Amino acid sequence: MSDSFEILSLDQIQSELKSRLIGRSSTPNELHDVIDSTNNRAAELARNDAGEGVIVLARQQTGGRGRLGRTWVSPPDSGIYLSVLLKPPAESLAQPGLYTLATGTAVAGAVENVAGVRLGLKWVNDLVFEGKKVGGILAEFPMGWTGANGGSGRYLVLGIGLNVRLSQEALPEELKERVTWLEALTGMPVNPNMLVAQIALQLEHAYDILRNDGDRASSRIIDEWKKRTVTLGREVQVTSGNTAFRGTATDIDASGALLVRNADGSIRAVHAGEVTVRLTDGSYV
Ligand code: BTN
Repeated sequence: MSDSFEILSLDQIQSELKSRLIGRSSTPNELHDVIDSTNNRAAELARNDAGEGVIVLARQQTGGRGRLGRTWVSPPDSGIYLSVLLKPPAESLAQPGLYTLATGTAVAGAVENVAGVRLGLKWVNDLVFEGKKVGGILAEFPMGWTGANGGSGRYLVLGIGLNVRLSQEALPEELKERVTWLEALTGMPVNPNMLVAQIALQLEHAYDILRNDGDRASSRIIDEWKKRTVTLGREVQVTSGNTAFRGTATDIDASGALLVRNADGSIRAVHAGEVTVRLTDGSYV
């Protein structure tokens, strides 16, 4: 935290950066005043064979994208809109869902270190505080999914959106009750440059595990994720395509899928979709 309101600055990020790979690519990091989507720009860099670890940031996005085709509201200087380009080894992509879980854990760790706020993780990618969304992850394969034995040219874009300094006025009506931001939680300025540098470092730790820990990677990533879960042990509603069902979220399997126990005791593995958690008043958020 710092006393004054800082805005994103590549120089400041550079001086805070402690990672070795992320943010230290041979391709220069980018900070755009306005861009459609940092994930789109990172995909363009991938198609031009950019170096691994390059970071794309924007102060504002006009076409910020969320999961399931949603919009990520991205007003000027209100949040971190960040994409990292990675080139993971094929073996580590046997379970690509682990990358989303690992990124969520890394961002939550960075937020805790920099802002002193402990965020929860709602499967699969939501960073939340008391039921309100603070951030999310959009993982994409811009050159197509080539599978665990895919050849060269395999890139992964990890897009991270984190609300730092929003205002109620900047939010569409339907989001006002469902969203919050870090400075609302801390009551003081949060330095976005320190956050970016910490995200790079925490993400790099997770990436080291995913690349180097072989069979143990999955349990290490999932154990860390579970420490912050707000989903496991709760009644949930799962919506996937045209189907919806309710049950109890019991666990995460080795691929990162959510295991949900139905009323008849059977277990369903959920690989994609939207999960909402039942509150004491019976509503789902
Ligand atoms: C979600 O929770 O639905 C994921 C939101 C991801 C938003 C980030 S902001 C930076 C990057 N660029 C995008 O267009 N989306 C991701």
